[in-house]
Amino acid sequence: MSEIGVGLLGLGSVGSGVIDLLFENQSKIVSRLGAPLSVTRVCVRDMAKKRTVPLKGVEITDDPMAVIRDPSVKIVCELIGGTKEAKTLVIEALKAGKHVVTANKALLAEHAEEIFGTAKKHGVDVYYEGAVAGGIPIIRTLREGLAADRIESIHGIVNGTSNFILSLMADGQSSFAEALASAQKSGFAEADPSLDIGGGDAAHKLSILVTLAFGVHIPPHKIHREGIQTIGSTDFKFAERFGFAIKPLAIAKEHGKHGIEARVHPTLVPKHWLLASVPDAKNALYVRSFALGSSMYYGAGAGGMPTAMAVISDLIEVARNITSKSEGRLPARSFQDIKSATIYPDENVTSRFYCRLSLRDKPGVLGKITNILGEYSVSIAQLIQEDRTPQETAGEFASVIVLTHATKVLQFKKAMADIENLEDCLTKPVVLRVVQ
Ligand code: HSE
Repeated sequence: MSEIGVGLLGLGSVGSGVIDLLFENQSKIVSRLGAPLSVTRVCVRDMAKKRTVPLKGVEITDDPMAVIRDPSVKIVCELIGGTKEAKTLVIEALKAGKHVVTANKALLAEHAEEIFGTAKKHGVDVYYEGAVAGGIPIIRTLREGLAADRIESIHGIVNGTSNFILSLMADGQSSFAEALASAQKSGFAEADPSLDIGGGDAAHKLSILVTLAFGVHIPPHKIHREGIQTIGSTDFKFAERFGFAIKPLAIAKEHGKHGIEARVHPTLVPKHWLLASVPDAKNALYVRSFALGSSMYYGAGAGGMPTAMAVISDLIEVARNITSKSEGRLPARSFQDIKSATIYPDENVTSRFYCRLSLRDKPGVLGKITNILGEYSVSIAQLIQEDRTPQETAGEFASVIVLTHATKVLQFKKAMADIENLEDCLTKPVVLRVVQ
């Protein structure tokens, strides 16, 4: 069977991984596909940069349109990232009748309608396994493996950088700033790391997962999100005492006609949950579905080689569609028609809460706190105040840690607003939800 030509846009760590892995596993790939899969053209930003990957027989250009227009290119693989130039090029490729493989979660989450709509109009495929949880085949799992099932909820660690930072802080190895610097050095943090630590990257990924799981679209900016920046090293100590780890979760649940709940925030996870033990920059997804029950998917969620593996698996799938003339056989987003979602309001969500308060250490202050919580029907499950540390003594404050029973987010927020207004409440409380 004749060779399937691939045009690569971008030769960063994932693009280089694609070249390396195609070279390394070519014979396995040919025997699986029944035809050679070859990168024929690559577009790079800097033509003068020395490359270490095997590029023999590959034409290098700095003109992306030369890749898209090349008749030998049947699949355009977009690995430049970002949402501006990448969007223009992906749309151009689709209009030119080229199939697209991309790992660009921001692009797909923010411009889903336009990209998938253009692909449908031009009868071409868009595959994107590398966009969520890197090398873990979660997109294929939701779209194909669980196609017969009804997904009830997803709890995922989908941002490796946040998991890495929280894991290092939990081990007492690093401060937040040191852990972030180390994540940036390792290469898996976004160019703008506020997307990682603020929950934006996880919201992009959750938006894609929600569509695949429930057949509806929630734009990423409508997903409730909280970052990990406010967590201090003492929070790990107290979470541990209550029996929890702190993990960066992306959560989506279906509430029937009341809509879809979708949120991203650092979360207290019971130590006995598998998600609590997902270490370092690893990703994992815990899916509950009607027929299968619970299932869990774990692996590398970032990095050149794992993401390149997901990208090449997509190239193989698209090449199979081309050789069997079955393009468009799989709905790219799992369902034939995607509706816009009814969003289950975050304020109606029920959760237990952990909160760390810095309070003036004098008689009656604790009474005021418990009174306010009681006024809003927030019930306390556990409360800790230890002897003041030298730091607390110097600052004349005491840390009080409260773990509540389940309460409505709205009630808890109202109580916290009143507590924050007390003159005895010295800094903004650290508030974390407990997983449900
Ligand atoms: N910045 C992302 C992460 C890279 O840390 O998970 C993979 O999408």
